[in-house]
Amino acid sequence: MSTNQIGLEKAELTPVIKALNALLSSYHLFYINVRGYHWNVKGEHFFTLHPKFEELYTELQLQIDEIAERILTLGGTPLHAYSDFAERSSIKENKGVFDGRGCVEGVVKGLQTLIEEQRAVAELAEEASDQGTSDIVTGYVQAQEKEIWMYNAFLG
Ligand SMILES: [Fe+2]
Repeated sequence: MSTNQIGLEKAELTPVIKALNALLSSYHLFYINVRGYHWNVKGEHFFTLHPKFEELYTELQLQIDEIAERILTLGGTPLHAYSDFAERSSIKENKGVFDGRGCVEGVVKGLQTLIEEQRAVAELAEEASDQGTSDIVTGYVQAQEKEIWMYNAFLG
């Protein structure tokens, strides 16, 4: 048995690192979808949704960096190619969405998918005694659950 630089079993972390790379992939696909909503949204809610989507993708960008650096902290290597992200992401590309409602529905679906994926990551991390990773993704889950409530309130 060998441990990494923060005293966790390397072998036990292998599935955690793999799951974090898949999560990193999902975040990238969601990020680029939200940029599309920010750019393309049209209609009466433009002035509300355009900045709201900017706020969201700015947050996603910070989370992307935090997840990648967590992978490095655990002794892994973060993926950094779009071909890898497309292969591993649980969120798919969402092209050509222009109406506000469709954009918000895409956001809600993306957040729901991230939450599910992160709950699974938190379980894997806890099995490896990796509370640090579990705390990071659980924090994201809490914030995203609230976001879903707000976006659903917009949808009525
Ligand atoms: Fe912009």
